[in-house]
Amino acid sequence: MVGLQGAGKSTWVAAELAGNHAVVSKDHWPRARHREARQRHVVAGLLAAGRSVVVDNTNPSAAERAPLVAAARVAGVPVRAVWVDTPLEICLARNAVRPAERRVPLVGVHAALGRFEPPSVEEGFARVDVVRPSPDLVHATGDPVR
Ligand SMILES: Nc1ncnc2c1ncn2[C@@H]1O[C@H](COP(=O)(O)OP(=O)(O)OP(=O)(O)O)[C@@H](O)[C@H]1O
Ligand SMILES: [Mg+2]
Repeated sequence: MVGLQGAGKSTWVAAELAGNHAVVSKDHWPRARHREARQRHVVAGLLAAGRSVVVDNTNPSAAERAPLVAAARVAGVPVRAVWVDTPLEICLARNAVRPAERRVPLVGVHAALGRFEPPSVEEGFARVDVVRPSPDLVHATGDPVR
């Protein structure tokens, strides 16, 4: 998964993939040390066991996605990127109405935005899918920022 905080990644995963994929996310261990290494270890283990895996993090840059592409290559399975491309204004509005314990600090959203690079097949993805909110939602929630 690729997308800013509040874009709707976890919601999309729950609706589309959770039935037949193991869902891995560093958010599952918010206070653990070495979360990145732990996530790579878990993903590699699941792939080695033959499971389909979805990694539900912001994954904003090619550099952050590269270890996941590499893990798929090692396991000999195809990997796709699903970019939940929700306008920043909507991400921020959704984040603002989250319960306090699930709200992401603004600086975190802007950090992800600053590192953001659209996923591309040149990174090694067999497919890049883009999920966008319906125009109705965009109009209802605020002007899209592009
Ligand atoms: N398609 C949608 N339409 C309306 N609201 C949505 C939609 N998808 C998600 N939301 C709402 O937006 C908020 C953020 O969604 P979600 O938790 O799925 O985002 P996320 O991309 O996983 O964020 P994070 O990176 O912080 O985990 C939630 O309150 C969710 O209910
Ligand atoms: Mg999420």
